[in-house]
Amino acid sequence: MDFQPGRTGRSGKRAKKDAKILRFPEGFFWGAACSSYQAEGAWRDDGKSESSWDVFCRKPGIVKGGADARVSIDHYHRYKADIKLMAEMGLQAYRFSTSWPRVIPGGTGRVNQKGLDYYDRYVDELLKNKIRPFLNLYHWDMPNQQELKGGFRSKETSYAFAEYAVAVARRLGDRVKDWMTFNEIKHIWEGCYNSDWNAPGLHLSEKINNQALHNTHLAHGLAVNAIRAYSTRTDVEVGAVHALWIRMPNNPGNKKDVLAAEKCFQYKSGRLFDPLYKGVYPEQTWSKGSEPEISSGEMRIISSPLDFFGLNVYGGMEVKYNPKAKHGWEEIEYDPSIPVTAMNWGVTPSAMYWAIKHVWDNYDIKKMYLTENGASYIDTITHDGKIHDSDRISFLSKYIAEMHRAMRDGYKLDGYFLWSLFDNFEWGAGYTQRLGCIYVDYPTQKRILKDSAGWYKDVIRTNSLKV
Ligand code: FCB
Repeated sequence: MDFQPGRTGRSGKRAKKDAKILRFPEGFFWGAACSSYQAEGAWRDDGKSESSWDVFCRKPGIVKGGADARVSIDHYHRYKADIKLMAEMGLQAYRFSTSWPRVIPGGTGRVNQKGLDYYDRYVDELLKNKIRPFLNLYHWDMPNQQELKGGFRSKETSYAFAEYAVAVARRLGDRVKDWMTFNEIKHIWEGCYNSDWNAPGLHLSEKINNQALHNTHLAHGLAVNAIRAYSTRTDVEVGAVHALWIRMPNNPGNKKDVLAAEKCFQYKSGRLFDPLYKGVYPEQTWSKGSEPEISSGEMRIISSPLDFFGLNVYGGMEVKYNPKAKHGWEEIEYDPSIPVTAMNWGVTPSAMYWAIKHVWDNYDIKKMYLTENGASYIDTITHDGKIHDSDRISFLSKYIAEMHRAMRDGYKLDGYFLWSLFDNFEWGAGYTQRLGCIYVDYPTQKRILKDSAGWYKDVIRTNSLKV
């Protein structure tokens, strides 16, 4: 492969100067990602209804500082200037989500043309700036009226979601080639009806949670078919975006640990993959008595073929072989001495390598994109008016180097999306966590490029990483 490190590209000899440059293959693209709720603001503009998150934010104690995303970074009104910044950085793709409450305020029924007009203009603006749009239909903001009807606890919502997919695909399917159904079904399943960290933040039974997982899968499958049916592009591609239970071997030199990590990955992540790629749930998914209601034909819809897989990577956990443990593997608690980001997430770059490897080794996927990766750090504007976020650069470099290692080992990846280009509303953490390469001064909405923005611009320009 011509993107191996240390190659000069001319003579093939190792040149000292080039020894630390990791080159990426031609055609590999660099992008960034964000979601509607986290960035748009404009919470009641042009006919948008309240989303489940608008309501959730009002619940005391949910969001740090009692914050909400009614304004956030006001991307809805500032999208043109923001896209201009993207273009100046050389961004080749942008992953964004459409807001269901903007498009169908009641969840089902009337389509709000004004909401769709916004995404119409948005996509045109991206295309005008030669940025490839990756449209994600759901990044956790459901019309509240639909949530009140049961949200994903009810199959009605799966079909309502399909209606929404049709509306978006009808309007944008002539220009958008790359579609994603859901962001991180794991965090809908773990977060919405079993915890306080994803709207509506209910604490319900295991059976109800399992039904919600299945209904979300059903919504995904119905949307895949809706997108294909209503897009007018013959080259349309549809995929799902997942966060997984990423597991790394404690000792990568020990074959038993390597196998243990893979087994643990399969055991945990199988409930997200097997339905999509094999049309079944692994046996261990449901405990006795908590099985969801699955009607005939649903698994076929859920396993509708996908064109690509989107992988979000922030970190993972180590696993070691333990013949005495129930499944032959044991998860190792985080070593308290490992570096952490400001969100207290462990910095574990090898998670990138192992996640890519495990997905390719275990599932019949056609194409993979790295759809989210990034870190929160305490960013301060220094006396020179700049933000020297070397910790973020170091984090990203380490993870991207591991992505390159996986590619060198033959695992194909076609593009990388950084999370996130702009600081934005970070769910329960409100505005206390900054993950952007571009700083947003929330009171004035001023954008300031952090050092990492210049660094990323260079990565994009050279299609390579200096390590
Ligand atoms: C991911 C979410 C994204 C953001 C990052 C930090 O799990 O998809 O919205 O919160 O984490």
